[in-house]
Amino acid sequence: MNKKSLVEQAKEEYRRHMQGSVAAFAPGRIEFLGNHLDYNGGTVLGTAINAGIYGLAQPREDDSFRLFSDSFEGAEINGSIEKLEKQSGRESWGNYCLGVLKVLQQMNLAPEHGFSLILTTDLPMAAGLSSSAAVELATALCLLQLAERTLPKNELVSLCRKAENEWVGLPCGILDQGTSAFGEANQVVRIDCAEEAYSTLPLPEGTAFWIFDTGIKHDLVDSHYGTRNRECMDALAALQTLDPKLLHLAHCPGDLLEKAELPENQMKRARHVIGEQARVRMFEEGLRESNSPEELGSLLRQSHGSSSELFENSVPELDHLVDLLNEDDEVLGARLTGGGFGGAALAWTSQGFSEEKARSIASAYERKWQVLPTFHTFSASRGAHCKDPLDKG
Ligand code: GLA
Repeated sequence: MNKKSLVEQAKEEYRRHMQGSVAAFAPGRIEFLGNHLDYNGGTVLGTAINAGIYGLAQPREDDSFRLFSDSFEGAEINGSIEKLEKQSGRESWGNYCLGVLKVLQQMNLAPEHGFSLILTTDLPMAAGLSSSAAVELATALCLLQLAERTLPKNELVSLCRKAENEWVGLPCGILDQGTSAFGEANQVVRIDCAEEAYSTLPLPEGTAFWIFDTGIKHDLVDSHYGTRNRECMDALAALQTLDPKLLHLAHCPGDLLEKAELPENQMKRARHVIGEQARVRMFEEGLRESNSPEELGSLLRQSHGSSSELFENSVPELDHLVDLLNEDDEVLGARLTGGGFGGAALAWTSQGFSEEKARSIASAYERKWQVLPTFHTFSASRGAHCKDPLDKG
């Protein structure tokens, strides 16, 4: 028997005995511009990348679930779909899957039987590339297939955000899930978070994305993310006493903010949010008017300055890394990407930026902090989608 027919035979057996297996892929994302604008009703730009989470699931006859992933600590989690329990410690990663299952159950869209779900990944973990949103989307797409249901992408995004807000406990917006769901090759995803409206924009040709990870873990649930969210909501509530029609902090006109008497921390957060929203608008206009990549890139540099000084979600290591990157001629603009408080920096570069340059910047960082940052280059890629478990791709 030749090799091909052996493989074909195995596939036939697979189809007979493992019928009902399903698969899905969800990419990680880079926050391109629009730091902490999503839960403030702003417009954000993100890129889905060519690395992510692959989920493979199989139905079980009883009501038990089994989650496996060698990529996460505490590689196996078992339980019953009838009684979901919050995970802690080494099993915490399972909350992203169980949160999704819980919301699907509330929506009557969950499988009625148990299942096994295997997750594998090629994403660097805790680097600010939103592995958590990718876990949620890959899980949701697998479980919906097991239940023989489908959902439009915007509803998929909302359900994953709900899982993260209510089960995991992070008051995040829709940047991560929206970018991972709506990504397209060579495009940046534009999300109007107030309207929950998604579209894509082409970036100038001949540019590239590099991610440098400080290695400083940014566990957002335990970090200041929730505090920043509250400060923004408090600033909004105070501004609404001056203009009750104002629905989102990102929509606040500059002159209204100047009239308000806010505590210093709230004033700084609001200034960042309003300024960042203006930068996103300028970036979009600049793209339409074919402004030079250098001009566009300067908005990313300004964004980092604002995050660091006004939103205060950077750390000295990240500031130093961003400075080193911005000193390079081939870097159009560098900034922290994602929640902050550690994590990674994005460098948007021209094609001339090379691995050699990346290595030399990483070494300069290491000389100061005694830690070598890891770096990766990514391309803008297709968003989350279902897979055929027998598909090679
Ligand atoms: C994290 C959150 C997102 C967004 C960013 C900051 O990635 O999950 O919802 O708020 O931080 O822009």
